[in-house]
Amino acid sequence: MVRVVWYVFLVGIFALLGSMVNSYTPWFSACGPETSTQEIAVPDSREASQNANPPTKPMPKIRNQMDSSMPWSPSDVLAFMQRHPQRAYFSRLIRDGGFRVGMEVGVADGRFSEHFLTDCANIQPWTWHMVEPFPNSALVSRLPNAGASGQITHVPEHHLTKSWGERGLGSNVQIHFHRHFSTNGDFLQQFAPESLDFVYLDGAHDYANVKKELFDFWPLVRKDGILAGHDYCNYGETPLGCQGCENVPSCQPYTEYGVSHGKPKRARAANEAGVVQAVHEFLVEKHPDVVLHHTLENFTRESLAFDGMDYDLIITNTRNPSWFFFKQ
Ligand SMILES: C[S@@+](CC[C@H](N)C(=O)[O-])C[C@H]1O[C@@H](n2cnc3c(N)ncnc32)[C@H](O)[C@@H]1O
Repeated sequence: MVRVVWYVFLVGIFALLGSMVNSYTPWFSACGPETSTQEIAVPDSREASQNANPPTKPMPKIRNQMDSSMPWSPSDVLAFMQRHPQRAYFSRLIRDGGFRVGMEVGVADGRFSEHFLTDCANIQPWTWHMVEPFPNSALVSRLPNAGASGQITHVPEHHLTKSWGERGLGSNVQIHFHRHFSTNGDFLQQFAPESLDFVYLDGAHDYANVKKELFDFWPLVRKDGILAGHDYCNYGETPLGCQGCENVPSCQPYTEYGVSHGKPKRARAANEAGVVQAVHEFLVEKHPDVVLHHTLENFTRESLAFDGMDYDLIITNTRNPSWFFFKQ
């Protein structure tokens, strides 16, 4: 009898322990994916050092408090951009890298801004500043507000039949449209020092404007944020002695997109020596410790599609690389 009682008692103890283990297991596995999401989102510098450009698996879009309070460090960003040396991937600094306030200077039709809004559609609230002194009808078809104050230029192409708002695009982002020249004092003084994570200069591409933009925007970018710009190529002019300024990319022929928009076939894209000189001079004169980087723009329709990006929002008249550096 005593044996039977002991047996029942022991079976009961084991059953109780078993149920505790079972109830522990689901809690543990629920935390698993969050941990691994973060590990995936932070780039791997060993892969980056190979400097390959294979299409990668789309990164998970889940974000958490940790991500937004700890943006990618410059070495994280650099590793990521070395794996993806295309300007299209700047949007991932916002989507995956914890950058929260970005700006495109010179938005034209709004295609590149649309790329950012689309790519970052499933993250926590963020802010996008669009700067354009001459809004056109393609931009207004996307963002009707852009045409609210004054004349717009009518262009034949790139209109949407439904605006971003009507398509539900931009519901997680505060869009600020600025009808201004980038160097306008009233415009610039709206921004507190160090209030921007990412600025992309793609407005006027002459030496004087870019040089002034560099001085104007440097104080507005936060430490370890990024100041970047389009059209970093020339016809072989001698670089200045800043870090990373050797090996300026050579301007390549216009793209098919460019030819279909009136650029001469097989002709080399315009020399952007003014942009290159402005960036190099700025670094030599003001920030000799800062290292300059640039993209390659060797993407294809397929490589972008693999990462969920739309080639038609990225391609321009040229495949001119973009320069970028980190604010110190
Ligand atoms: C090359 S387009 C921009 C293309 C666009 N970023 C894209 O990737 O599709 C240059 C735009 O900059 C605008 N722009 C020219 N000067 C500017 C300035 N000083 N400040 C801001 N935008 C300017 C032009 O009106 C034009 O729409």
